[in-house]
Order: sequence, then structure tokens, then C-alpha cells
Amino acid sequence: MAPIICVEHLRKVYRVGKEKVIALNDVNLAIEPGEICCIVGPSGSGKSTLLNQLAGLEKPTKGSVHIGKHEISAMSENQLAKFRQAHLGFIFQSYNLLPNLTAAENVALPLMFKGVPRKKRLEMAKAELKRMGLGKRANHKPTEMSGGQQQRVGIARAFVAKPKVIFADEPTGNLDSSTTRQVLYRMLTMAKENNITFVMVTHERDLADVADRVITIRDGMVESNILLDEQEKAKKQAELFKDILESKQEAPPEPQTTVPADSITDE
Ligand SMILES: Nc1ncnc2c1ncn2[C@@H]1O[C@H](COP(=O)(O)OP(=O)(O)O)[C@@H](O)[C@H]1O
Ligand SMILES: [Mg+2]
Repeated sequence: MAPIICVEHLRKVYRVGKEKVIALNDVNLAIEPGEICCIVGPSGSGKSTLLNQLAGLEKPTKGSVHIGKHEISAMSENQLAKFRQAHLGFIFQSYNLLPNLTAAENVALPLMFKGVPRKKRLEMAKAELKRMGLGKRANHKPTEMSGGQQQRVGIARAFVAKPKVIFADEPTGNLDSSTTRQVLYRMLTMAKENNITFVMVTHERDLADVADRVITIRDGMVESNILLDEQEKAKKQAELFKDILESKQEAPPEPQTTVPADSITDE
């Protein structure tokens, strides 16, 4: 299968006054469609910088990033903004919810960019919140919710328009360990159910054990890039999500409402 994300000779240099910080130095990697990929490595190794280049939030100094057939590293700011709205989702450590909007209005935002009418998008946002266990919080403002709840709103917002790729930078960084596992479980399940490629930065090594691929970054370079063994991964997931899987009632699946899919490669 052709990779959905392809990075070649990626270099990122920041200038701070007269100093040069080489944050990424000749990074090469490929991620397959539908993969759960974790980027790990020590603090300051370049994980966030890499994610920002992959997601088109920053311009590389050298090298290229392709998503599908699109070279996002060559796009103008305007093209990038449109591409991100059409095909990508983001989950941030600090949630980044708009404080004056309700949970449902926050979740509905990506659908507005896709031209879904207001009534329909609020319906879809509420259904997504319900899937995240937040059906009763749809009309609450972010300040009226706990960190874990706010992050679930952030996840619902990233998934609601079913983008091709979702990027997450330390999405559980501000959460306790039980909430972390809940949130991680939701993200993995939703990504797998919708065949969404999911790229997550984490410094918690044990969280990476449930991914399909683990890329370790050190000093701005790829130290290792490993596809995990299916059986080993299933065992790790069963361990990490034990209490969630045990407490899960066999509830009937929610009917899924979807936006018309627009292909990442057909434009
Ligand atoms: N906007 C920036 N300006 C200058 N230096 C930066 C900037 N962003 C990151 N860096 C530097 O690049 C290196 C990698 O940072 P980062 O990607 O944030 O690491 P990580 O996410 O792995 O902790 C660090 O040395 C950091 O100080
Ligand atoms: Mg970081």
C-alpha cells in the first residue's frame, strides 16, 4: 500500500538570536493508511517539531512532507489552511477549546468549515459527544468541565468530520493515569473503527506499546522505527485497558452520521 504520510530528508532549524537550534536533522519515515503511530523520545528531542511539520503547522527548513499525493511542505499558507480543514484533525495537550462556545459548538466547528448546515452539525456534534460519554455535557462551557472531559470534547472535535489523519501532541499529558487510559482507549477505538491514521506524540513509553508503529526520536533524528508484533500488541492492549474492557456493557452501537467523504488523493 502507498504510505499516507511520507517524509524525506526533513530538516528544521530554529534561529534564536544568533543561535541555531537544529531541531530535526535528516528525518525520513513513512506511515501507512490506518496506522496508529506513536512518536516517542526524551523531552527536547524534536517530537513536537516533527508533528508540527507533518501536520503542516510549520514549514520545514529543508526536505519534504507528503500527505497522500500532496506535498504539504510546498503549499502556501492559504492552501495549507484549506488542506488542514478538509483532511486533518488535531488534538492538543492543552485542549484548545474556545471558551465562549459550548461543548457541542466546539465539536461542530470542523463541520462548519465543511459547509454542514448549523442544525445538522450540532446534531452530529451531540452524537459524537454521546459516543465520548459526554451526552449530558453538550451545552456546558469548557470551564464547567474537568480536564478529562475537556479532552474528550477535544477528541470529539478531532473525529467528528472523520478526517484522513489525526495528529495529537501529548494528548494525555495533563490527565491522571485512569483518565489517560480512558481517553487513549477512545482515541484508538475511534481511529480503528473509522480507518483514520492516528499520529500521537507521547513521552510515556507504556502508552506507545498499544500502537502499530513506534518511532523513537533522539537529538532530532529517527533512532528507531518499529512495527509492533500483532500478538504482543494485543496482549499489551488487554493489560492496559483491562478495567475498561471489563466494565464495558454491551451497549448497542450508536448509528453513525457521516459527512460525504472527500478523497485526499482525488483533487
Ligand atoms: N519555536 C522554537 N524556537 C526555537 N527553538 C525551538 C522552537 N521550538 C522548539 N525549539 C527547540 O527545538 C528542540 C526540539 O523541541 P521540541 O520539538 O519541542 O521537543 P519535544 O517535543 O521532543 O520535547 C528543542 O531544543 C527546543 O528548544
Ligand atoms: Mg513536545
